[in-house]
Amino acid sequence: MQLPQSLLNDVIELAREAGGFLMARRASITIAEKGGAHNLVTQADLECEQLVCDRLAQLLPNSQFLREEGGAAGDPSSSALWVIDPLDGTNNYVHGIPQFCVSIGLAWNGELELGVVYDPNRDELFAAQRGCGAFLNGQPIEVSDRPDLQHSVIGTGFYYDRGDLVKRTLAAIGRLFDEPIRGVRRFGSAALDLCWVACGRYDGYFEYRLGPWDYAAGAVIVREAGGRCSDRDGKALAVLSGNVIASSPQIHTDLVRVVRWQ
Ligand code: IPD
Ligand code: CA
Ligand code: CA
Repeated sequence: MQLPQSLLNDVIELAREAGGFLMARRASITIAEKGGAHNLVTQADLECEQLVCDRLAQLLPNSQFLREEGGAAGDPSSSALWVIDPLDGTNNYVHGIPQFCVSIGLAWNGELELGVVYDPNRDELFAAQRGCGAFLNGQPIEVSDRPDLQHSVIGTGFYYDRGDLVKRTLAAIGRLFDEPIRGVRRFGSAALDLCWVACGRYDGYFEYRLGPWDYAAGAVIVREAGGRCSDRDGKALAVLSGNVIASSPQIHTDLVRVVRWQ
């Protein structure tokens, strides 16, 4: 199977449509708790995922799906695997905080190949395909050129677990401030965090537990913008790693040294 030439543009169009759907649904949010009071799902998550998956299945027949809400676990070694978060930043969405997005990644023969992330609040569409560069609303983007951790702003996130993971993340933030760094940010959408590394707003980002749908698209965009992505141990990022450290190339070794899982 070969990828259709128009695929990236078709996925961009779909992400814009899905983002428009999320914006339209903000007025009437129906919430359910899927794992305690912190881990929420809305009717908009579910309907947006259905919209996106139905369309992707038409764009690439015989592809598989790894999606946050639908429970369908695609095979990561399959030739075409869509890795989708229909609404990344659900807590923000529910609280009226304008930081959420649609994230659509494609793994092709086991490798992260294509990523599209749409932020409907800012009308910012991030897109990349392996070997073709990364773009924000059609303009090429690059990771930051700040020389070291001391001049860096680092993003992070907290998974829904409230125990060990939170303690380890806070300890890593403490180590970052000991370097010292310029600042730490936590905005609540992992896919956008990665895109913000890709366009140089953040110099780096790490999170100790994620679903593949949180980083599949963003990791392609970071790499194509000249950045590096590894897992929390500093090893090569894979579709199912479940965590990420991403940054510009010049700080990656230092960032891994400070925030690696320990
Ligand atoms: C969450 C967001 C958040 C990150 C969490 C994710 P969701 O995704 O990306 O920034 O810290 O780990 O689970 O639940 O809003 O799709
Ligand atoms: Ca997510
Ligand atoms: Ca989600």
